[in-house]
Amino acid sequence: MVDLRSDTLTQPTSGMRRAMAEAVVGDEQKREDPTVIALEERAAALLGHDAAIYLPTATMGNQIALRLLSEPGDEVVAEGSSHVFRYELGGPAVHGGLAMKPLASEDGLLTPEDVRAAVNPPGDLHMAPTRILSLENTHNGGGGRVWPLGRFSDVVAEARAQGLRVHLDGARLLNAAVAAGVSAADYGREADTVTLCLSKGLGCPLGAVIATSSELAPKARRFKHLFGGAMRQAGVVAATGLYALDHHVERLAEDHANARRLGEGLAEAGLPVACDAIESNFVSSTSRASASRRTTQSRACAPRASCSRSPQSAASFAPSRTWTSAPRTSIAPSPRSPEPCRAAPLPSGRRRMSPPPIRATSLRPRS
Ligand SMILES: Cc1ncc(COP(=O)(O)O)c(C=O)c1O
Repeated sequence: MVDLRSDTLTQPTSGMRRAMAEAVVGDEQKREDPTVIALEERAAALLGHDAAIYLPTATMGNQIALRLLSEPGDEVVAEGSSHVFRYELGGPAVHGGLAMKPLASEDGLLTPEDVRAAVNPPGDLHMAPTRILSLENTHNGGGGRVWPLGRFSDVVAEARAQGLRVHLDGARLLNAAVAAGVSAADYGREADTVTLCLSKGLGCPLGAVIATSSELAPKARRFKHLFGGAMRQAGVVAATGLYALDHHVERLAEDHANARRLGEGLAEAGLPVACDAIESNFVSSTSRASASRRTTQSRACAPRASCSRSPQSAASFAPSRTWTSAPRTSIAPSPRSPEPCRAAPLPSGRRRMSPPPIRATSLRPRS
């Protein structure tokens, strides 16, 4: 069986396990683990920065980045369904003392106008200074949407014009780069900090990196330790990151093609799949796309109970546990909904199911 609920469900391949067994290790906290150092150097170059710091999770990377770029009492702006706002337990408020301003969007992507309109008037003593714009690529809540590089640069340029710092949650940045046909560094160098996750479609059992400038890196390392992320012989896991960068990146295009094939097959079977929205390794239902548009129309994030599930929650597939409590028919379709590829009529008596969003990993096991 191939489990497609999430791209986090991968198992290390035999080659990856061999790399773990053979890793040369040392005390990572003392900067004495050569495998961790090699991964950090590789990741920094990959993401267009001088330095990178190895971490256990991408959530920690995002939280360190926000803390690094701000002072308590500042405001961070991000798209409303972004991982940092929706799935990190209010971390920006807890770890950084930040006010969080969610912005509505069609598909997780913002415009320069959105950014301009979101910034509190500088110098207004009654308002939190807007300090950080946090972007996500690919966008999980948007169904794996990929930022076109030009649009990404325009939005970052507007953020800079407004005096903001920019964090990129690039948990799946390599998926984005492969899908857009550009390098990860093309996106990464635009931001002050970039998170990359190694345990999503890249197949590592765990691990992430945050890339930044050599000026900010020492402080980022201090926060890593403060947040409990400093490790010991972490090279045994970092070796999986090096292995994945060597062997799995070029296979992301295969994942994307498989996702497309899966979406088309599901649509052909009569399920409401938003085939137009399959840009990377996510397959979402049209109901979900409508829900995200409804969010946009109301300029606020619909509460989880009345909104269809995110790809993130697709990991809990059991309907009894996490299925939306509102009937999907209550979500008004929008004229701008992506059309299902081929929503075939169902035989009479058969109920149409709304499929959960699925992250497709390779249909073939990785060797
Ligand atoms: C866009 C995005 N950022 C960050 C994370 C957090 O990753 P981790 O589970 O490594 O903390 C996820 C997890 O799915 C994600 O989808």
